[in-house]
Amino acid sequence: MELALPENHADNEPDPAYLARMAERREVLREELKQIIPPQTRIVWEVGAGHGHFLTAYAEKHRDQLCVGIDIILERVRRALKKRDRAGLAHLHFVRAEASLFLEVLPPTVTFAAIYVLFPDPWPKKRHHKYRLLQDSYLKNIATRSPAGTPLYFRTDYDPYFEEVQTLLREHPDWRLADSAVWPFEYATVFQQKAPSFQSLIALRK
Ligand SMILES: C[S@@+](CC[C@H](N)C(=O)[O-])C[C@H]1O[C@@H](n2cnc3c(N)ncnc32)[C@H](O)[C@@H]1O
Repeated sequence: MELALPENHADNEPDPAYLARMAERREVLREELKQIIPPQTRIVWEVGAGHGHFLTAYAEKHRDQLCVGIDIILERVRRALKKRDRAGLAHLHFVRAEASLFLEVLPPTVTFAAIYVLFPDPWPKKRHHKYRLLQDSYLKNIATRSPAGTPLYFRTDYDPYFEEVQTLLREHPDWRLADSAVWPFEYATVFQQKAPSFQSLIALRK
C-alpha cells in the first residue's frame, strides 16, 4: 500500500495547498479524538487496524478498556466501524488517521495501556524503509505516551522487518524486549490468516 506522500514544489518548498489540507485534517482529527477519548484515559491502541477484526474481538472480551484503532484507509475504517456497531461496543472506536498525525493531536493527558502493531506494511524496497512505522523516532514518540510497563505488541510475516524492529528494541533507551512475556489475546487478522508464517515480539516501556 502506497501512502500519500507530501507533494512538493520543484524548489522543494512545501505546497501551500497541501499544508492547508493537513492543517484542516489535524483540526478535524483533534476534535474527533476529544469527542471519543475522555482526558486522563489509558487506551488500548491498534495502529493499522485494517478491517478491525482483532480490536473488535479484543474489545468484546475486555469491556472495561477503551479501545481505539486507527487506519489511514477510510474504507477499512468504515468496515471496522460496521463491525463495532453490529457488536454494539460503545468502548471501541475506529478512526481514520495517519499514525504520526494521531500522536500529534491526541489529547496530551491520554496515555496508552497497550499498543498493538499487527502486520504493518513491510515496505520491502530499501528506498522505502524510511516509511516503515516502527523505527527509532516513532518508538521514542510513542514512549512519551506510555507509562512504565506499557506493552508494545508487534507481529509480522516479513522476517527482515521483524529482525530490524527486534534489533532496535534490544538497544532502545525507552523499551526493553520481554522475551518471556506471553501474547495476551489471540485473534487472527486478515493478514495473519493469509500469512504462511509470522513472528511476534513484546516490548515493555522501561
Ligand atoms: C498490511 S495491513 C494489516 C492490517 C491488519 N493489522 C491485519 O493484520 O489484518 C496494514 C494496515 O496499516 C495501515 N497503515 C499503514 N501505514 C499506516 C499509517 N502510517 N498510519 C495508519 N495506518 C497505516 C494500512 O492502511 C493497512 O490497513
